[in-house]
Amino acid sequence: MNQTSTVPEEDLTDAFRVFNDLSEQLIDSFTVLENRVATLSAELAATREARRREAAKSAQLTDRLAKLLAALPGGVIVVDGAGCVQEANPAAGELLGEPLRGEIWRDVIGRAFQSDTAAGPDVYLHDGRAVSISTCPMAGEPGQILLLQDVSETHQLHERLARHKRLSAMGEMAASLAHQIRTPLSTALLYVSHLARPNIDSGDVTMITERIRDRLGHLDSLVRDMLVFARGGSSESAEIDVSELMQDLRDAAEPMLGADFELDLQPEVAGRAVRGNRDALLGALQNLVVNAIQACGAGGRIEIRATAISDEEVALLVCDNGPGIPEDIQDRIFEPFFTTRGAGTGLGLAVVQAVAHAHQGSVWFESTPGGGSSIGLCLPTSGRAGFGTSVTQ
Ligand SMILES: Nc1ncnc2c1ncn2[C@@H]1O[C@H](COP(=O)(O)OP(=O)(O)OP(=O)(O)O)[C@@H](O)[C@H]1O
Ligand SMILES: [Mg+2]
Repeated sequence: MNQTSTVPEEDLTDAFRVFNDLSEQLIDSFTVLENRVATLSAELAATREARRREAAKSAQLTDRLAKLLAALPGGVIVVDGAGCVQEANPAAGELLGEPLRGEIWRDVIGRAFQSDTAAGPDVYLHDGRAVSISTCPMAGEPGQILLLQDVSETHQLHERLARHKRLSAMGEMAASLAHQIRTPLSTALLYVSHLARPNIDSGDVTMITERIRDRLGHLDSLVRDMLVFARGGSSESAEIDVSELMQDLRDAAEPMLGADFELDLQPEVAGRAVRGNRDALLGALQNLVVNAIQACGAGGRIEIRATAISDEEVALLVCDNGPGIPEDIQDRIFEPFFTTRGAGTGLGLAVVQAVAHAHQGSVWFESTPGGGSSIGLCLPTSGRAGFGTSVTQ
């Protein structure tokens, strides 16, 4: 016998209602999910579009930068932390020669630049062009950006301008020069006329000849100073050992100075060299020694000193314990023809300055009224020992 159990009708109705509710909830959740997917897809598409636009923009920037680098008249080189050239524009290639990219910067320096000449902060290429190099570190990564500029024309212009200035200074001072020459010349002529006297004895002849020689010597050194000043030093150039130069100065100065002087060579100048004209430098330093002797008088103390200012510069100084330079004339002492001495030409320090400039250096002085003076030349050392390291490290 089959026995069927019957589910009460209200239970079935409840079950259907629950089922319906659940179905509706599911449909709602699905709709929410569908909407969310649509929103996310739209956001993704927008992000993709933004990225695509950004990529296009940065490609455009890179392209613009490359064009800019190619168009720049100056050389640009990017050196990485290991000292290797990463980037170089055509102007850099034209200055330094190819290849550049991938090369070690130190090797490029050795290959492209003259090792023993420097024009102040600038360096010379093998073909004679002068190049100024400035560096700036890369932001956020090791390495440097180097900017190179051909400054040969600027150098020539500076030289021409300096020469014009010197010539116009000489023009202005022509009258004073005529006076400077006339005095020793007329003295010499006077002595010559004494020589023509009848019955002159041999002692007088010797004495007068000596005086004539002295006056002519004065004229000779005056004319030599004028020429050095007009040329702006000298164009001849050789490697000069600083210690040897100072020893030469000592030998030249010793007969004038006697025992009251000292030569002080600081150890860091050993092996240092400058490039230029030995005679011009020696002459300039001798002018300083003569000034020191004239300032000190008898019993004065004079020191000739060579010292390093930096890796790339030395100072050659003459120091005395004389009366010092009065403050009110300190800014005039390098002017041609400025003198406070009756017999002076006022060319001594002008020549020193012209020689210093001709060697890409400068003059330096320190003087305390009543406390002596130190006057000298600051000169770049040749070889630029620190050059390679400063740009690759
Ligand atoms: N060591 C020094 N101490 C004090 N004053 C100095 C010293 N050196 C130079 N001067 C001053 O600077 C002036 C200019 O010097 P500079 O050597 O150019 O010419 P000068 O010595 O007068 O003449 P010149 O050297 O042509 O015979 C001097 O007249 C002097 O007043
Ligand atoms: Mg002098």
